[in-house]
Amino acid sequence: MSIEVKDIHFSYGKIKALDGINLNLPKGAIGLLGPNGAGKSTLIRILLGFLSPHKGEGRILGYDIKTQQHMIRRYVGYMPEDDCAIPGMDAVSFTCYLGELSGMPHQEAMKRAHEVLFYVGLEESRYRMLETYSRGMRQRLKLAQAIVHDPKLIFLDEPSSGLDPHGRKEILELIMDISSKKDIQVLISSHILSDIEATCSHVVILNKGRIVTEGEMNVLKQIRYNLFEMKIKGESAEYFRKLQEINCKIDYLDDGIWKVYMPPEMNSQVIFKLAVEERVQIRYFVKSQTSLEDLFAKAVGIEG
Ligand SMILES: Nc1ncnc2c1ncn2[C@@H]1O[C@H](COP(=O)(O)OP(=O)(O)OP(=O)(O)O)[C@@H](O)[C@H]1O
Ligand SMILES: [Mg+2]
Repeated sequence: MSIEVKDIHFSYGKIKALDGINLNLPKGAIGLLGPNGAGKSTLIRILLGFLSPHKGEGRILGYDIKTQQHMIRRYVGYMPEDDCAIPGMDAVSFTCYLGELSGMPHQEAMKRAHEVLFYVGLEESRYRMLETYSRGMRQRLKLAQAIVHDPKLIFLDEPSSGLDPHGRKEILELIMDISSKKDIQVLISSHILSDIEATCSHVVILNKGRIVTEGEMNVLKQIRYNLFEMKIKGESAEYFRKLQEINCKIDYLDDGIWKVYMPPEMNSQVIFKLAVEERVQIRYFVKSQTSLEDLFAKAVGIEG
């Protein structure tokens, strides 16, 4: 296990940001998904040892988050949510400097800085002052500095934030490449479901400082419930009430299509049987792939 934490609590004054976090995460690409204010960035800063939890303990790659920050800094990379570029510096000196802060000798850091800037596609702009960088370039730079010291694990806090669809796709592809080809374990935080769906094999859903659900992406998608889409004709209110009585959840999609979440143990024939009883005609009925969005909505109780 490379990330293990037990009963982590953290508050900013009276604001409780983390309320008893327990994690035992396997190797691979991990998605930390949650709405704004869920506690994602706070958790990442605690895992890095930047903030000390008020209660609880944890180990990253076997190193204690409270007492072995220097080892964590050596073996873990961090792409912060906010800008970290230093104005007046160019990308090479900035990346080299951060490599040195992680414990690399100057010459090696310089060599690696050129390599990683090339890798993220900034080779032509590597001597430009950072204040002239666009948003997309700054995100790439943050990614480059996160991997300059050849870490075993990287924490990426909202890596695609503020990027247009093309920029988002490019940075996600880079992250997938890092995760699969470079054998670096990644933990990506995001409130964007499709980003996590595209990049991660394991997901942790965080809301209001607590873990709502956690598990392997594929398993989570399938076992939580079955999702059907249907169109009906007739009086729906009583029919839906009966479906809800037997623990189905119903949401309106659009274009006359309803989404029905059925508990995993239930046979879909029940839906037809109740329709007959309530004189409702089912005009369209298909099993739908549960997307993380549905899972997320259900998990945090915000389905519309
Ligand atoms: N420096 C701070 N001082 C006071 N409260 C803070 C501070 N940083 C975060 N918080 C609060 O702690 C909670 C968790 O914030 P955090 O930034 O960890 O969430 P997040 O999931 O990263 O959100 P986002 O998606 O907006 O980045 C929020 O209620 C936030 O307002
Ligand atoms: Mg955040």
